Amino acid sequence: MEYILGVDLGTSGTKTVLFDKTGKKIASSTVEYELFTPKNGWAEQDPNDWLNATISTIKHVVQKSGVAKEDIKGLGISGQMHGLVMVDKNGDVIRNAILWCDGRTGLECAEITEKVGKERLIEISANPALTGFTAGKVVWVKKHEPENYAKCYKMLLPKDYVRFKLTGNYGAEVSDASGTNLFDINTKEWSKEILDKLEIDINLLPEIKNSVDVAGKITDKIAEQTGLSTDTLVCYGAADNAAAAIGTGVVSTGKAFTTIGTSGVIFVHSDKPLIDKKGRVHTFCSAVPDKYTLMSCTLSAGMSLKWFRDNFCNDEISVAKHLNKDSYDIINEGVANIPIGSDKLIFLPYLMGERSPILDEKSRGVFFGLNTIHTKYHMLRAIMEGVMFSQWHCLDVIRKLGVSTNLMYACGGGAKSELWRAMMADMYNVDVTTVKNEEGPALGVAILATVACGMYKSVEAACEVMVEEKEKVAPTNNCLEYKKYYEIYKNLYLALATSFEQLSYLK
Ligand code: XUL
Repeated sequence: MEYILGVDLGTSGTKTVLFDKTGKKIASSTVEYELFTPKNGWAEQDPNDWLNATISTIKHVVQKSGVAKEDIKGLGISGQMHGLVMVDKNGDVIRNAILWCDGRTGLECAEITEKVGKERLIEISANPALTGFTAGKVVWVKKHEPENYAKCYKMLLPKDYVRFKLTGNYGAEVSDASGTNLFDINTKEWSKEILDKLEIDINLLPEIKNSVDVAGKITDKIAEQTGLSTDTLVCYGAADNAAAAIGTGVVSTGKAFTTIGTSGVIFVHSDKPLIDKKGRVHTFCSAVPDKYTLMSCTLSAGMSLKWFRDNFCNDEISVAKHLNKDSYDIINEGVANIPIGSDKLIFLPYLMGERSPILDEKSRGVFFGLNTIHTKYHMLRAIMEGVMFSQWHCLDVIRKLGVSTNLMYACGGGAKSELWRAMMADMYNVDVTTVKNEEGPALGVAILATVACGMYKSVEAACEVMVEEKEKVAPTNNCLEYKKYYEIYKNLYLALATSFEQLSYLK
C-alpha cells in the first residue's frame, strides 16, 4: 500500500496526518505552540516552533502508524496565510514571523495604496492593500527595523519556510502567493510593477509554482530527525484555506465551504477570478491549477471562543479533564439551553480588529446589551452567534457578486459543534453538510501530494475517491428570529466605528 502525509501548519498548532491513497486516516499527531502579542493588535510566532512541531509530529505519526518509510510516497504542507518570515543567507530566521491577524500596518497599507494606486493594485493583485496581507509587513520591517531588512536573503510565507527546511529548496506557490499583495493574478508571477513602486528587490522572493508541483525530496537531516525516507516527494502544497477546499471536495463551480477555525472563512470555487471592487472579500488562485477562489475572512472566529474559554471557563476545562471530554463539548451543553439572541445579548467578534467585510483593523470586540440576567453561558452563546453574524455579513457580499450555492460544507474545529452547524444553516438559509474525513487542510495537501506523485491524474479525480460527504442539516424558521439580531449587529459596527478609531489613538 502507498501512503501520503499531510502537514497543516495552523496558528494554534501543527497537525500531521498519515493517509492511505483512498483518503483513510491512519495516524495523526498535533503539537501546539505560542502566539505572541507584544502589543495590542500585534501577532507574532517563532517559525522554529512551526518547524519543531512539524518534525516531531511527523516522527510521532511515522512511529505510531508502523508504516514502512519506503511506503510513504509523498508529503504536502498547508499553512496559515500571509505571514512574513525573513531568513538570512544561511536560511536562519531573522525575527519572529508577523502573522495574518496582526494589525500594525495601517499606515503602511495607506502608503502602498498611494504608491501603486488603488485601482491599479486591484487590477494587478485582485485585492486592496490589507493589514493582514504580507506587503504591509515587508514595508513595516523595512521602515522600523532596517537592520533586519538589510540581513534578509529571502522572504517566505509560513509553510514555504517549513517546506524549505524539509527539502532545502526555496519556493512559493500560487494559492498563498496571491495573498501577499505582491502577486500578479494575470501572469501568476510576482508583480515587478508593485515591487518596483515599493522598492522591494524581486530577488528576495522565491520562484512561484503550482500547488501540485514537486518541490523536492526530504533532506538527509530531516530524514534522520523524522524517520522519513529521502525518497519521499514533497509537493508545493497550498494556503490553509485552499487546502481545506481540496480536503472538502470544493473543486468545482457552485461549491463552497465555511470554516470556523481560529479564523472564519467562506470559500467559493470559481473558474474565473471574481473581484469585489470594494475589496471586502478576497480573490486568490486556487490550489486546483488554473482555477480561482473568492474568499472572506473573519479574523477571530474560533479564536473568540478560545479566548473566552481560556480566560473564564476554568470550571468547564476541569470538568472536561475529569470526564476525559473536550471542554468545547461541555461548553456546547451549557449553551444549548440559552435561547436565540442570547436573551438580547450581541457580540461583535472584532478581538483582533476585523478584515471581511468591514476592513477595520481598529475595531475591537464588544458585548452589547449586557444585563444582570446574563450568565457566562449567555456570553458563550452570544460569541457563537456573533461569529456566525460576521460570516453571514461576508456571505451577503459574496451573494451580491452573483455567487449562489444551495449547499455549504462546514469545516474547522467549530464545525464539530452541532449547534454551530445549525446556526450556520439557519442564518445562511441553506443546507449545511460535513465530510467524513474531518482533516480538511491536511487531507487537502495529502491529495495534492497524491497528484504530485502520479497516483491520480488530477486533483478532481483524487477528490472523487478520497473525499466523502456526511450528514446534512437543513435550515429552519429560526432564520427570521436570527435576522432581527443580525440587523442590530450590522448597525452596531456603523455606530461604533468612530469610537473604535478614537480608542486606537489612546496610548
Ligand atoms: C485568510 C487568513 C486566515 C489564515 C489563518 O486570508 O488570513 O484564514 O490563513 O490560518
